Amino acid sequence: MPGRDRVALVTGAARGLGAAIARELHAGGTRVAVLDLDEAGAVRLAEELDPESGTAVPLAADVNDAAGVDAALTELETRWHAPDILVNNAARTATGSVWDIELEEWDAVLGTNLRSVLIATRRCAPAMRERGWGRIVNMASLAGQQGGLVAGAHYAAAKAGVLVLTKIFARDLAASGVTVNAVAPAAVRTPVMDDMDEAELERAAATIPVGRLGTAGEVAALVAHLCAERSGYLTGTTVDINGGVFMR
Ligand SMILES: NC(=O)c1ccc[n+]([C@@H]2O[C@H](COP(=O)([O-])OP(=O)(O)OC[C@H]3O[C@@H](n4cnc5c(N)ncnc54)[C@H](O)[C@@H]3O)[C@@H](O)[C@H]2O)c1
Repeated sequence: MPGRDRVALVTGAARGLGAAIARELHAGGTRVAVLDLDEAGAVRLAEELDPESGTAVPLAADVNDAAGVDAALTELETRWHAPDILVNNAARTATGSVWDIELEEWDAVLGTNLRSVLIATRRCAPAMRERGWGRIVNMASLAGQQGGLVAGAHYAAAKAGVLVLTKIFARDLAASGVTVNAVAPAAVRTPVMDDMDEAELERAAATIPVGRLGTAGEVAALVAHLCAERSGYLTGTTVDINGGVFMR
């Protein structure tokens, strides 16, 4: 493990896919900042990764709050340095009929799931560009390509926005060694499903060609690949990870 030179910031990393991604990057030799609205959860994961706090730190912030994100990044820069790797993973899963979503709820979901990507990327990318190396991975969703079947229109619209923002940033940063890619999972077992009916989840799994839900570890392995040194020619793409539900 060569010196843990790289610093990764994973948003929404207190649980679910974000936590799995933070674990994977940390196991691969990267220092990891665990950012989440859930401060206790972020502290818990950072302590699990490194009880000495030398290679994993918690950061508490709301990704939709530009000042809060800026303060968290300043804290990280003081401690280590600006992130070499940014995983925009934090999001709110939201459901509801397109006819019934309250406009305030629409704005809140677009804020947490899309505006947040703009905020964090604009805050983190300049240092990557200056350094001539960077990896940005945005968590999108099958819902952003097909419209949500279970997810609401606000969630799906935000994720569609994430896909195009990925391309815009990828093109802009390509010449400076910074790659920007999106990962689009479909149904992956995370705590967000704990409240769902198990029989309904089983029925959903039966419609997936692979015959099961995905695991957080499978998504994390893909994200780590996109963040690897040797992935420098891979940019502006959306990688589907959905058990064969959607094939291009
Ligand atoms: N699980 C799936 O099947 C699936 C499918 C497609 C896409 N995704 C995407 O993958 C990502 C992770 O999903 P998950 O299932 O692990 O979700 P999750 O709800 O289990 O975890 C999300 C994490 O983000 C944090 N978070 C929420 N709002 C935040 C905010 N405003 N600021 C900071 N942190 C915030 C939460 O506290 C939580 O720790 C999301 O972008 C989600 O849209 C997941």
